[in-house]
Amino acid sequence: MKVVELREQFGLENLTLADRSEPTAEPGRIVLRMLAASPNYRDLLMVLGRYNPKQPLPLVPCSDGVGQVMALGQGVERVKVGDRVAPIFAQNWICGSPTPETLRSTLGGPLDGTLTEYLALEESGVVQVPRHLSDEEAATLPCAGLTAWNALVTHGNVRPGETVLVQGTGGVSIFALQFALLLGARVIVTSSSDEKLERARALGAWETINYRNVPDWGRETWKLTGRGVDLVIEVGGAGTLAQSLAAVRPGGRISLIGMLAGGMSEINIIPILMRQIRVQGVLVGHRESFEAMNRAIEVHRLRPAVSRVFPLDETRAALEHMAAGEHFGKIAIQIQ
Ligand SMILES: NC(=O)c1ccc[n+]([C@@H]2O[C@H](COP(=O)([O-])OP(=O)(O)OC[C@H]3O[C@@H](n4cnc5c(N)ncnc54)[C@H](OP(=O)(O)O)[C@@H]3O)[C@@H](O)[C@H]2O)c1
Repeated sequence: MKVVELREQFGLENLTLADRSEPTAEPGRIVLRMLAASPNYRDLLMVLGRYNPKQPLPLVPCSDGVGQVMALGQGVERVKVGDRVAPIFAQNWICGSPTPETLRSTLGGPLDGTLTEYLALEESGVVQVPRHLSDEEAATLPCAGLTAWNALVTHGNVRPGETVLVQGTGGVSIFALQFALLLGARVIVTSSSDEKLERARALGAWETINYRNVPDWGRETWKLTGRGVDLVIEVGGAGTLAQSLAAVRPGGRISLIGMLAGGMSEINIIPILMRQIRVQGVLVGHRESFEAMNRAIEVHRLRPAVSRVFPLDETRAALEHMAAGEHFGKIAIQIQ
């Protein structure tokens, strides 16, 4: 079978289309014929050797994907042959809080990921995907979709009529826009591109701010809302947190997800305590919340925004496209 792997060294130029032997279904495990995958920013960092420089190689990158169940090991009961399922990001995180073991069971590093024609997993490590989605759309759910869902629902506790600010127009952020609308919130989207902001408006954004032209966008949100926003979806991290703290209303929340604008900086904590702001870290999510998200996606016929699809043998081009910030929402990789 074909896989995309990093064999001996990190780097986009070292991604290789290689042959490996097909896995068989061991007891309690299943084999998926992978249909599509979808890269996240984390996968780009992993390939560049910046996510975990100590990650042993070879590695098949990418955590997100969707596949069809081809074979069942002895005793498997959760799925049947032919089911279309998505692997869960952290293979042993079924419910509750994450543990150190949770982080050791994530796909696309340290475990081999989804850029492969066949993938063997524990039967507990998958969920059924919504039937109305294409393979490419369904492939985007495990990390990007679920992170946005948990940032808004589980941790963000968004109520109808609230205002959510979403930073940028990448994978997590456009899911967050879509889920916030589904929850009855109004959404402000920031972006470095006016063209992407137009696309965000077409998806239902209430207001938009170009963060390049308006670096003090925290204050701008007060002009728009009169009271600050209720929740910020923070993907910029240390480099944007000061603006997020300025944007949020007293008693508001920040779901801290990413660090596109840096992981470390000096932060003035006084607004957090004086305005009683809750800053909550978000780590993807467990299988139970993945299933809850899929029910909502199915009921509301929500469709993930996939702006471009690449074939498996153009994975490098897909990651370069992501690194250049050319995408809107998600990129997908067609495998079959
Ligand atoms: N904690 C978790 O569990 C978790 C899960 C998933 C992702 N993440 C993290 O979340 C972040 C986003 O991931 P992703 O996969 O959605 O990335 P992505 O699809 O590559 O999104 C990148 C987009 O973010 C926007 N952006 C970049 N720098 C920005 C800044 N300084 N301020 C505002 N927006 C900025 C840009 O949007 P415009 O082009 O519109 O400007 C860019 O196109 C990454 O740091 C990732 O590692 C964390």
